Amino acid sequence: MPNPLFLFLFLFLLLSGVATADDPDPCAGRRIHIRSLPRRFNADLLRYCGGDGFPLADTSAAATSVPPCASLANHGLGPRTHPRSRSWYRTDPRLLEAFFHRRIQERDCLVDDPADADAVFLPYYAALDALPYVLRPSLLDESARHGAALAEHLSRGGLLSRCHGHDHFLLLAGSAWDYSQAPGGPRLWGTTSLLRLPALANLTFLTLESRTWPWQEHALPHPTSFHPASLAHLRAWLARARRSPRPTLMLFAGGVSRPSRPNIRGSILAECANRTDACALVDCSAGRCARDPGRYMRPMLRARFCLQPPGDTPTRRSTFDAILAGCVPVFFEDLAARAQYGWHLPPARYHEFSVHIPKEDVVFGGVRIADTLAAVPDEQVRRMRRRVLQLAPRVLYRRHGSTADLREAGKDAIDLAVEGVLRRIRRRTRALQDGSPERIYEQEDDSLEDM
Ligand SMILES: *[C@@H]1O[C@H](CO)[C@@H](O)[C@H](O)[C@H]1NC(C)=O
Ligand SMILES: *[C@@H]1O[C@H](CO)[C@@H](O)[C@H](O)[C@H]1NC(C)=O
Repeated sequence: MPNPLFLFLFLFLLLSGVATADDPDPCAGRRIHIRSLPRRFNADLLRYCGGDGFPLADTSAAATSVPPCASLANHGLGPRTHPRSRSWYRTDPRLLEAFFHRRIQERDCLVDDPADADAVFLPYYAALDALPYVLRPSLLDESARHGAALAEHLSRGGLLSRCHGHDHFLLLAGSAWDYSQAPGGPRLWGTTSLLRLPALANLTFLTLESRTWPWQEHALPHPTSFHPASLAHLRAWLARARRSPRPTLMLFAGGVSRPSRPNIRGSILAECANRTDACALVDCSAGRCARDPGRYMRPMLRARFCLQPPGDTPTRRSTFDAILAGCVPVFFEDLAARAQYGWHLPPARYHEFSVHIPKEDVVFGGVRIADTLAAVPDEQVRRMRRRVLQLAPRVLYRRHGSTADLREAGKDAIDLAVEGVLRRIRRRTRALQDGSPERIYEQEDDSLEDM
């Protein structure tokens, strides 16, 4: 006769086995392996502060062309703006690569064996590694070599063989345009050919700005200076932005020198010069706003609309500062945001949280921005502001080591970027498995419904 205890144990194991099989695996489809790379591809790039000054804080370079060493503090968030400030940092966006690496290490569902992973993260500090080509004119002609050492390392180890590289991703803290120079063509200062390296062509690059046909990259929000570590800190800020009185109709923070040819920036400056009653200008020329968030955040809290004209490139960090401040962004072209940040802001619902004024209408059509914005009814402005502040948590970068209540309250810029990457990689690996690789190059549908 079998021992009743054994029978009981057997039944217990059987039932608990059934129970786990029914439980959905919380890591299904979300497993990430962090590829370990030689230090020259990451840690070493942060090491040269104080000495030779390369690539950080090269003293011979103009003040704004390199991140200062102080920006390395707090894993790349930079120093706090003030010893007692809890959520505000002097963040240099170019150190996002180091910070992203730190945050990925905090994720659950990391796996040691790349064979078990749904996606593989390459902790290569790509934009920092490009600084020598940007800073040293003598290296301009070498800039097609940016990333070649990484490509060599990966192919020597056969590391991309599983899916031809389609399952790998990395962060490039810059605009994709700046890293997609034709390798044989004339060299443009400040650009490299990283995205043109054939060996890396199938990788997914997270960038701060994507090109018009972004099958290699996807944009994630520019980092701001606000990095809350707890839900209480996030709520306190959002409440402040919600309550703030808004006497200023519209605000522009950026370069204030008039361009020589007519363009949207010139039109804004001309209108603001005329309408000092309605328009606030924050002079950010010569790097004045870099790492000094108080300079623009305080005026943004007092403005109803924040103007986001394109500069050298279509996107700007100021868009995300404005969203945090509850200042409704005004866009002049789709490339400024709608065509970029589909993983973070719902592309089909821009009318709920932003105003679109085509730049041609302003520059050549005589449309006045202040008149257009003054005509938006107060109730609608309030509705848009509520929506902007609802979306703000999705575009900010939570501090590393944050409290569980903040992590559970919602997804931040990094959580959403990683989810987006996992979706994209799943789509691509399926396309390969199904024998239809042409599907890899299809434009993806960004429209998420649950926002
Ligand atoms: C990139 O992927 C395609 C299939 O989509 C493959 O044919 C090609 O060889 C891959 N390139 C590299 C360098 O692995
Ligand atoms: C500025 O004001 C002057 C005089 O009222 C007007 O003629 C001009 O068109 C205005 N310019 C802009 C850009 O609003």
